[in-house]
Amino acid sequence: MTRQPAERVNWSLFSSKKTSIRSPEQNTFPNVSKIIHKLPILRSLFKKLPQFRCLQASGFMKKNANCQPDCLKNFIKNMAFKLPDLPYAFAALEPHIDARTMEIHHGKHHAGYTNKLNAAIAGTELEDQSIEDILANVSKYSTAVRNNGGGFYNHSLFWTVMSPDGGGEPSAQMNISKAIERDFGSFENFKKEFSTAAATRFGSGWAWLCTDSKDKLFITSTPNQDNPLMDLAEKKGTPILGVDVWEHAYYLNYQNRRPDYVSAFFNVINWKEVTKRYNDANPGAMQ
Ligand SMILES: [Fe+2]
Repeated sequence: MTRQPAERVNWSLFSSKKTSIRSPEQNTFPNVSKIIHKLPILRSLFKKLPQFRCLQASGFMKKNANCQPDCLKNFIKNMAFKLPDLPYAFAALEPHIDARTMEIHHGKHHAGYTNKLNAAIAGTELEDQSIEDILANVSKYSTAVRNNGGGFYNHSLFWTVMSPDGGGEPSAQMNISKAIERDFGSFENFKKEFSTAAATRFGSGWAWLCTDSKDKLFITSTPNQDNPLMDLAEKKGTPILGVDVWEHAYYLNYQNRRPDYVSAFFNVINWKEVTKRYNDANPGAMQ
């Protein structure tokens, strides 16, 4: 997965007497910083900002109590993973998936996983690894890396396998159509098995269509933010289609009706992207 530079830093987020962190701007305008820290309400609002909480949760603020601006600048500059843009508007998948759900899902949930993943790997060798390599050895790392690394990867895939122009069945010319026919007997059989996996995943998790090392398709589901790339997955393979069955993915529109949401998901599946992922995972397949 391509890495991109982290967003520009808003230094005001990290201002704190306790940690002695100061931006160049705060040195220029020290009175502003003093006012903020003397007003408990403003201080409390600043602490609620996601970036601040992310650094606190990671222990970064504790471990770097005397951190100077350069230290914090390097931390932000070296953030390994960036929240990918949504490839369409929030409302683009309506009426199947509503705009508000998409906005919260991408802007809060996926952003949260991304920030917390960066915080969890800060200063470690994992900063230089791809997300796929991290997940392939995830059993060696912390729960924070497992949960947030999975959350980062899973949602990055999820946005791309949906499209306002999606839905229906893949065209007969697509390799994925032939592979589905070969491994499930028919598209209807595949749809039934995939929908059952999504509906029966207890609690929060994902249902996946994957390809294995022998170019065979299979369906599986994983709990929480796990996925089949992880070394600790029950069934390992390369995911080429995934549906998020956490309640945050559907509750506003569908409440407890997960099967209705999964049925609606079939109206937005981006089969061009799924077949591309299938071809990438199996170069030379079906030639
Ligand atoms: Fe999600």
